[in-house]
Amino acid sequence: MNILVTGGAGYIGSHTCVELLKAGHQVVVFDNFCNSFPEATRRIGQIAGTPLTLVEGDIRDRTAIERALRENACDAVIHFAGLKAVGESVAKPLLYYDNNVIGTVRLLEAMQATGVKTIVFSSSATVYGVPQFLPYTEDHPLSSTSPYGRGKLMVEDILRDYHVAQPDSRIALLRYFNPVGAHHSGLIGEDPQGVPNNLMPFVTQVAIGKRDRLQIWGGDYDTPDGTGVRDYIHVEDLAVGHVKALEHLRQPQCFAVNLGSGRGHSVLEVVKAFEQACGKSIPYEIGPRRAGDLPAYYADVTLAKSLLGWKATRSLETMCADSWRWQVANPNGFRV
Ligand code: NAD
Ligand code: WQD
Repeated sequence: MNILVTGGAGYIGSHTCVELLKAGHQVVVFDNFCNSFPEATRRIGQIAGTPLTLVEGDIRDRTAIERALRENACDAVIHFAGLKAVGESVAKPLLYYDNNVIGTVRLLEAMQATGVKTIVFSSSATVYGVPQFLPYTEDHPLSSTSPYGRGKLMVEDILRDYHVAQPDSRIALLRYFNPVGAHHSGLIGEDPQGVPNNLMPFVTQVAIGKRDRLQIWGGDYDTPDGTGVRDYIHVEDLAVGHVKALEHLRQPQCFAVNLGSGRGHSVLEVVKAFEQACGKSIPYEIGPRRAGDLPAYYADVTLAKSLLGWKATRSLETMCADSWRWQVANPNGFRV
């Protein structure tokens, strides 16, 4: 297939492009590089041994997307493009709704105009809100606590409505848990700008000496060691999940599925695993809870297995080892 990958130069998108190329698809990356670098797309080609097409553009520019879809005879879209900092979304809600929600509407209009019926959307475990039970199953009630999360929920609703109006559409809503790690080649990985919001890139930067110590947000949660528990998933496993979702979209349908490992790890477990991987100690201090954080959540992955024949295979140790390899080989990320 010819696949338009919005946000394909970003963290999850770049790893997915590698898997798509490996599976024999043609890839067109559509990205405005607001949180990524063209160098990532060169490296995708280097890993896969086959080049991709790069289009610089903004998903809110319907004409530009239409042109990219037409000129490359695209059969499907994988839609990663979006802003993803939860805290920033509280400070700049209009920016988030414009980019993530209106941008998706423009993309769908362009798909409709060009007859492209298949879309895989990057949703998030954040759409489950405060857990009413764990693990989260796909039929857990949906709610959200930030403009970022509400945007994801709105886009899910828009896509469900779109499917009702266009029953021949083929839509996958992939609810990611906590993606971490990097490609095992060390050539691509997560390259956050400024101070990382997320745990793994912060730990990695402490290990390499860019930051003094990790601040652990809360040590008094009702969890085995008092620190927050999350379902970490290796980004290469997640990337494979997209190829499986695309294969499953041979028939018209609209489905939502969790992509996680199915088990939880605490912040302290991540720190210990990372210390093993890098052979250094990670200084940390336990501070107050971070506003808006949940104590614990993890995925029920039964549906991913039965529907897509997919499950995560890489351990926390591998996630840490691959993050470390990427960091050591690229201390300045893609800024070469
Ligand atoms: P990322 O920031 O690394 O990648 C997003 C890419 O989209 C970047 O290359 C950016 O330049 C591009 N982009 C943003 N707005 C754009 C626009 N208007 N037009 C064109 N390109 C645009 O983020 P990521 O971690 O790879 O996340 C990808 C998707 O997965 C996002 O939608 C995110 O919300 C979702 N998601 C991420 C996580 C996570 O923890 N990383 C978890 C759940 C869901
Ligand atoms: C993980 C754990 C923190 C940083 C976020 C979004 C979510 C999804 C994934 C997109 C928590 C603790 C973290 C630090 C810490 N994104 N932590 N010190 O918050 O689970 O999820 O990314 O959809 O919507 O909210 O991920 O990596 O920030 O935190 O102690 O410096 O690490 O408290 O327990 P989170 P995270």
